[in-house]
Amino acid sequence: MPIQTRGAVMPEIGGDWEVVDIEFDDPQQGEVAIEMTASGMCHSDDHVKTGDIPVAIYPFIGGHEGAGVVSAVGPNTPGFEVGDHVVMSFLPACGKCRWCSSGMQNLCDLGATLLAGSRADGTMRARVDGNEVGQMCGISTFCETTVTAVDSVVKVAKDIPLDKACLVGCGVGTGWGSAVNSAEIRPGQTVIVMGIGGIGINAVQGAKHSGAMNIIAVDPVEMKRETAEQLGATHSFDNMAAATEFAQSVTNGQGADSVIVTTGVLQNEHVQEAFTATRKAGTVVVTGLGNLMESKVDIPAAELTLFQKRIQGSIYGASNPHRDIPWMLDMYQGGMLKLDELVTQTYTLDQINEGYAAMHSGENIRGVIMY
Ligand SMILES: NC(=O)c1ccc[n+]([C@@H]2O[C@H](COP(=O)([O-])OP(=O)(O)OC[C@H]3O[C@@H](n4cnc5c(N)ncnc54)[C@H](O)[C@@H]3O)[C@@H](O)[C@H]2O)c1
Ligand SMILES: [Zn+2]
Ligand SMILES: [Zn+2]
Repeated sequence: MPIQTRGAVMPEIGGDWEVVDIEFDDPQQGEVAIEMTASGMCHSDDHVKTGDIPVAIYPFIGGHEGAGVVSAVGPNTPGFEVGDHVVMSFLPACGKCRWCSSGMQNLCDLGATLLAGSRADGTMRARVDGNEVGQMCGISTFCETTVTAVDSVVKVAKDIPLDKACLVGCGVGTGWGSAVNSAEIRPGQTVIVMGIGGIGINAVQGAKHSGAMNIIAVDPVEMKRETAEQLGATHSFDNMAAATEFAQSVTNGQGADSVIVTTGVLQNEHVQEAFTATRKAGTVVVTGLGNLMESKVDIPAAELTLFQKRIQGSIYGASNPHRDIPWMLDMYQGGMLKLDELVTQTYTLDQINEGYAAMHSGENIRGVIMY
């Protein structure tokens, strides 16, 4: 008996989210069905709407930052049972490929189908009015019930609130890891985080955990700067020129040890500004995404070579989902990593367009859909 549910689909580039009836196949071997508890509204789903992230098939069911409870387990699928609490990782990890087996689960070869909407073998699991539809990152968390491969599913303790835990499936791991793993921040350093949304706020938390002395948050929106200061930023500015000047003033003119770029729609000039703000042999971490087909980075080659600066891309903050999701939740339970403070507003599934409008107007650090 196929699963009947509801979910938010993007009908075409430039459309609005539409909540429709969706039919899923029952979970097959290596898959589970999950009754969703909550899903964060990351900016990346909005890129599917604008076409900055063009997906292979529209309509496309959105959502890639979710948590819920297992409601069915595919045949011969060990390790899961009905009632398990799970967080979904936006990146699947097979555990066997070159990347998984060398501590880089975030680069697992299964990531190749993230935007195809299908399983790794190209087959689809969801239909609307009898026509196949894609699943964002293979997990489509904007559904009341979804079906996904266990490669994307991490079991978590039952005493962790799933409406907060959902955030570690993308935003927290991406931002925190951008600071801790990709910028490799060391105690006493000076760090700029450019763009304080669901990703950047966690880069601030990661910078604090790494022992940065000056954590400079940059965002044009006042509420974002205030929140950053509540969660660890020592200074904040509404533009990069002022942040750069300040970073130089506290480093004897050298500049920031690292700049983490987490702006909502990555532009060439964001990376240029970050590059300028970075000291010799410093690191620019590029985490934000712009138009995947067109955006380019144009920086002065002489400064790259002669000042030995490093530009480091970062997907999911170079985190390993199956190791780091439980680890981040341990830190949350230990009071070290803040999650409750990241959820500005909650929405019903039917209010999804309202939630994204609030992201654009700068009202939310993170909006979360509650099922
Ligand atoms: N690399 C990855 O693995 C990964 C994972 C998730 C999201 N992302 C990307 O990260 C980016 C941020 O996502 P989010 O959900 O935090 O978005 P968001 O919209 O919640 O936050 C973006 C913030 O950037 C600020 N901003 C915009 N222009 C700025 C500028 N010039 N200077 C300083 N701040 C500026 C906005 O005011 C906003 O607060 C998006 O592009 C998203 O697609 C990347
Ligand atoms: Zn995301
Ligand atoms: Zn792998």
